Amino acid sequence: MKDFLSINDCPPELLKELLRISSRLKSLYSVGSNDLCLPGKTLAMLFEKPSLRTRISFQVAMTDLGGNAIYVKPEDIGGIGKREPIKDMARVLSRYVDGIMARTFEHSTITELAAFATVPVINALTDWLHPCQAMADVLTIGEHCGELEGVKIAFIGDGNNVARSLAFACAKLGMKMVVASPAGYELDAESIRKANEISADSVRQTSDPTQAVVDADIIYTDTWVSMGQEEEKQKRCADFAGFQVNAELLKSAPRAKIMHCLPANRGLEITDEVIESPNSIMFDQAENRLHFQRALLKKLMS
Ligand code: CP
Ligand code: NVA
Repeated sequence: MKDFLSINDCPPELLKELLRISSRLKSLYSVGSNDLCLPGKTLAMLFEKPSLRTRISFQVAMTDLGGNAIYVKPEDIGGIGKREPIKDMARVLSRYVDGIMARTFEHSTITELAAFATVPVINALTDWLHPCQAMADVLTIGEHCGELEGVKIAFIGDGNNVARSLAFACAKLGMKMVVASPAGYELDAESIRKANEISADSVRQTSDPTQAVVDADIIYTDTWVSMGQEEEKQKRCADFAGFQVNAELLKSAPRAKIMHCLPANRGLEITDEVIESPNSIMFDQAENRLHFQRALLKKLMS
């Protein structure tokens, strides 16, 4: 595997290996030990959108593994694909650095970077996918549920990049996912078809959040307004009414663990009370971004 762009491209064995490496590195670092497998290696980190978790956890992961990371804002380089073609940028960067991580609007930006770069390219979120998030989520689910096989996830909200990557992870790793969304915001039919082709009946769509959470081990939500959709905020908030993860919804699933990739909008897709409740595992999720990404960088760059 040269790049990490979509979970859909990865065989289940590779995903399981990455999870095993993540757990091993997590234990190693928890006792103050380290794995300096990337000495002298540099990761270029290109961001077209804001980030707290992704930016900091990738930078810390590179430092932990003995390497370096360079943070690049689009304005520093005249925009991705604006001052020069993406294919030129990919080949130039490949002469300087050992890996490229990018967070972009268009998914085609990252696939083009990967096609022309001779070094590994990592998807750190596009409008279409967020695979590093989904793998950190799966690591967290394994820690809290004991195993992945048969775990039931209810995703309440927008059928967006986070939902899509999680759906592929479910299909590859033996979990079941139901996505509950208002009309017009469902996970696209082609992604559901692909997931179910990998593993029959692994992903389904509903418009009923209460029915979705019954028997769920995990209830997951994400923002109703993803980065780049800010102008639609008012309409989206109206359209998503009734899809909030709140105490009333949780009455139908009192033992479910609650996940959110963060950042969260308290009072919109989820209440403050639910975020702060004992069943919330979202800060473990955030922490596991670091552990999964150490494993990914080690696998791709060492
Ligand atoms: N969950 C996540 O990717 O967070 P950031 O946008 O802060 O990186
Ligand atoms: N769906 C959100 C995820 C943020 C981590 C977005 O794309 O903005």
